[in-house]
Amino acid sequence: MRALTDRYGRVATDLRVSLTDRCNLRCDYCMPAEGLDWLGRDELLTDDETVRLIDIGVRLLGIRTVRLTGGEPLLRKNLEGLVAAIAGLSPRPEIALTTNGIGLDRRAWGLRRAGLDRLNVSLDTLDDDTFAKITRRRRLPDVLAGIRAARDTGLSPVKINTVLLRGVNDHEAPDLLAWAIEEGVRLRFIEQMPLDAQHGWRRSEMITAEEILARLSERYELVEDPAEALRRGSAPAETYRVAGTDHTVGVIASVTRPFCGACDRVRLTADGQLRNCLFAREESDLRTPLRTGWSDDRIADRWVAALAGKRAGHGIDDPTFLQPDRPMSAIGG
Ligand code: GTP
Ligand code: 5AD
Ligand code: SF4
Repeated sequence: MRALTDRYGRVATDLRVSLTDRCNLRCDYCMPAEGLDWLGRDELLTDDETVRLIDIGVRLLGIRTVRLTGGEPLLRKNLEGLVAAIAGLSPRPEIALTTNGIGLDRRAWGLRRAGLDRLNVSLDTLDDDTFAKITRRRRLPDVLAGIRAARDTGLSPVKINTVLLRGVNDHEAPDLLAWAIEEGVRLRFIEQMPLDAQHGWRRSEMITAEEILARLSERYELVEDPAEALRRGSAPAETYRVAGTDHTVGVIASVTRPFCGACDRVRLTADGQLRNCLFAREESDLRTPLRTGWSDDRIADRWVAALAGKRAGHGIDDPTFLQPDRPMSAIGG
């Protein structure tokens, strides 16, 4: 079998697939109120094209985990069918979903039955008005219902991804942790990255991992767990145990403590472009090969060649750093 090895010796085994660039929220740190210039229907990979590329990934290239993202992947028609088709591949990859949770209350069981293994849900606040301010939609109850439904399916612990914004929700960190402990879900705080469509990110405004930990420490004692550190591998989150409980909390410090050296990811956009990194400057087209009759082997070779060009890291702190053309919503989180 080929392997997706780059010139720094990292091997990509985690394929993140964006299923749509659309979203039913309008998070202020992600996209403008009016939305974006969405991809057209013909530009999107069909279900069959998506599954064919994933099949090439798992059968010929050593992909072991497939994470479905967006935009908002629950907006993709027939998501359950897509999950079932991926679950039918051989070798069967682990299947994970990153979602904003809207509509999940009605779909969590169907997704589980289709073969979904893991679910991560985004939630930045527990306050109705703050939610409406950040997302420009008043949908907090829907998201909370989705998270509970996901948890009740008994899928392995649901993870919650939270971005803190200065002066907006940064005071909520300990309340969010109290809520997560109560609900039995795993909270992870994410440092904001320069991936917004508006190019409004400022490093000086970002809430750093250090600040997040300081805020949590006002109410909780957090313990570094050496066993957890060993288990971390390529996972983006640093995990801390909350003293006196069985719970953990994570911090994804993409900016101040980058984890690119252990990166095992590769990304496929909804229009069939391969990206080596969230911050990649170049993409490799896999859609044209799919639509012009290339064999699986030839597509796999193009994929291997694309990976070889992966850069060492995101370079956010380099003086020459340029934000990528596509925003996070079009790359996949
Ligand atoms: P698991 O821990 O396996 O559940 O996956 P994950 O943490 O990779 O999944 P998720 O999609 O929930 O990612 C959480 C957040 O981590 C994303 O929203 C990003 O903000 C950040 N993240 C994920 N992958 C990368 C990456 O490759 N690079 C950077 N810099 N950040 C990432
Ligand atoms: N930086 C960090 N995380 C982001 N997300 C969206 N935009 C950014 C950004 N610029 C998060 C969302 C969601 C996940 C898919 O990515 O809040 O939790
Ligand atoms: Fe990998 Fe790029 Fe993320 Fe770094 S920023 S961990 S290289 S995808």
